[in-house]
Amino acid sequence: MPSHKLSLRSFRLAFRFVLPLTIALALLAYAVVPLVDKLTLRWFVRDLDIRARLITSTMQEPFESLLLLGDRGKINTLLTRAIRDERLLALGYCSPEGRLLYRTANFPESVSCSQTKSPNGEIQPLQQLAQGMVHVAVKPLDHDKGATGALVLVHDMSFVERRSADTRNYVILLFAVLGIITSLITVFVAHLSWRGWMDGVRAMLRGEGLLKPFTNPENSELEPLVGDLRVLMRSLDAERRLADDITITWSPETLKNLLHKQLVGEKIIVVSNREPYIHSKINGEIEVHRPASGLVTAVEPVMRACSGTWIAHGSGTADLETVDKFDRVMVPPDKPEYNLRRIWLTEEEEKGYYYGFSNEGFWPLCHIAHVRPVFRTCDWEQYVKINQRFADAVVAEADSDNPVVLVQDYHFALLPGMIRALLPKATIITFWHIPWPNPESFGICPWREELLKGMLGSTILGFHTPYHCKNFLETVDRYLETRIEHESSTISRCGQLTMVESYPISIQWPPSWQGTLPPVEQTRAEILTELGLPPDQLLGIGVDRMDYTKGILERFNAVERMLELHPELVGRFSFIQIAAPSRSALEEYQAFEARLHALEQRINTRFTQDGHKAILLKAAHHEPDQVNRYYRAAQVCMVTSLHDGMNLVAKEYVAARDDERGVLVLSQFTGAANELYEALIVNPYHVEQTAEALYQGLTMPEYEQQERMRSMRAQVRDFNVYRWAGRMLLDAARVRQREKLATRIGRVS
Ligand code: G6P
Repeated sequence: MPSHKLSLRSFRLAFRFVLPLTIALALLAYAVVPLVDKLTLRWFVRDLDIRARLITSTMQEPFESLLLLGDRGKINTLLTRAIRDERLLALGYCSPEGRLLYRTANFPESVSCSQTKSPNGEIQPLQQLAQGMVHVAVKPLDHDKGATGALVLVHDMSFVERRSADTRNYVILLFAVLGIITSLITVFVAHLSWRGWMDGVRAMLRGEGLLKPFTNPENSELEPLVGDLRVLMRSLDAERRLADDITITWSPETLKNLLHKQLVGEKIIVVSNREPYIHSKINGEIEVHRPASGLVTAVEPVMRACSGTWIAHGSGTADLETVDKFDRVMVPPDKPEYNLRRIWLTEEEEKGYYYGFSNEGFWPLCHIAHVRPVFRTCDWEQYVKINQRFADAVVAEADSDNPVVLVQDYHFALLPGMIRALLPKATIITFWHIPWPNPESFGICPWREELLKGMLGSTILGFHTPYHCKNFLETVDRYLETRIEHESSTISRCGQLTMVESYPISIQWPPSWQGTLPPVEQTRAEILTELGLPPDQLLGIGVDRMDYTKGILERFNAVERMLELHPELVGRFSFIQIAAPSRSALEEYQAFEARLHALEQRINTRFTQDGHKAILLKAAHHEPDQVNRYYRAAQVCMVTSLHDGMNLVAKEYVAARDDERGVLVLSQFTGAANELYEALIVNPYHVEQTAEALYQGLTMPEYEQQERMRSMRAQVRDFNVYRWAGRMLLDAARVRQREKLATRIGRVS
């Protein structure tokens, strides 16, 4: 901000104080000058009186001697010599009878031997004569032998007038100088206070100010206002959020418009480990497929709406063949809308960063699924190295110094901090797709501080649920030196403010296939035929990655128990489990898969009737349209995760059921359970309860199915993935706006 503008503002401010001050000083000077005049006059009169007494006593002896001699000539000479003194104007001698016997030539006619008295008897030594103001003192020549008359001394007072004029000028000058000094001090103090205030308010607009006055004593004068400002800003935010929720119907268009209007067409950069399209070589042919990943399911439609660049690990066997010389490929393959920038990892890097630290360390650390995390220094080193590689790629892909970067998931806890170091003005939105544990659980990670510091490089840090946000705030509180504002859910560290918010993720709405699929009855019939099952066979469905957190074993146990409790359903009910192979290089996952197959076999051995198996385990990758057909065919969908950030299978099932039929059995340990209240909520660790819910789902009357499904569909429709992204982008836009406003205030002040 130009300093002359700042000074002008300070001067204008100070002027408001200086003007009244000057007037007050002028009035004071006006009142003080006559007082000073009076005082100095009194001093001078007293002075002249003493002087007159002194002259009288000095002259007494020679004068009396001459009087006795009666030498008139010498007496006159003595008197004339005495008035050589510049101030003594005239001198006379009065006889004891009061007659003026001797006098100097210029002795005023009007002065007599008796001194003038005021009506109250006080002696009035001052007289105004034609030649000016004079001081008259009649001093008796005291003698042991009695009075021998008196000397009349007439002093010129013109010097008093001169002096009091001087004094008056000095007083006025003094007040003027006082005024100038006070003004300068006022301007200076006003300037400093203005700057302090502006800094404080600017920081507050950025969000930091909410904390600063308490930590920075220089801003303590803002302290009484902080509460009010905070309430005001929060209520403005809440009002805006509420208005957005009520007025905005979230769709790809809304999201696109939001990006153009609120973020002025910023290009979005998404970073995730898993890429949205994988090119693989199968039998010499290149094929593209969509990975089984909730993250990809959610973020891909957002990217299609916003366009920009998605940076991810190129993990497919034909990925390298399909990129250009900048390692980019436009996707989706059938309708290119955004850039996919691939990052290459060596086997060793993938082993350490992806399999090791991310999936043997972080994944079990964040999920309470009773699998112990493993932390190795070599994995950590790869994790740091790969995070830095992605940070460099973000910088290379950014076309401004303040890009909007969406960092996805636990593979990149260090990335926000690394991007912040390279692009300090970037808006970094980090979303954590998995749960966040409590501080004790997180505390076992040897690199907990580094990970938390990295995450706090984010502008916005999103979790699925308020509970995960709370866990994160508590974890930071436990392990880092920061300032946490629980009311506004912000963390301030080293001048960087991070807003921690819950943004429940969701799926695209309307679904891409809307209106293009055959009716549910037809799909069910087709599926049953494909599976070799009778047309009235009841179907349950589970769709997951082959992962121990998904509660698939518990689900199978519940199916078994349900068939034990309701034997009439044996042979009449089949549960289809789609389990996409996942992280199969890891021992824990291999062991899990083996256990699952063993359990499936055991249950099927017990409950296969007429060749109709109780469990159909499909341990293979299925493309989204195939999965969707199973959703539409099944009477019940089971989501029994032991711990899950959100779980989008639950929402996909709801979206698939445009016939408003079907029942969702949902684990209470998923984020989705906070939104889909009409599901049958279960504790998957409780076998009987889960078994009963499955039975209840299979036997639920149609009207009840419809009521529940209709309500859940409305929820998923309104709280779709565009809203998820929109909410985060709106919040980011608000943070940006605040920063811009703060800068602008800085510029004009
Ligand atoms: C979870 C994670 C995602 C991940 C997905 C699939 O949903 O939150 O980040 O992409 O699992 O796992 P994978 O290791 O195959 O990418």
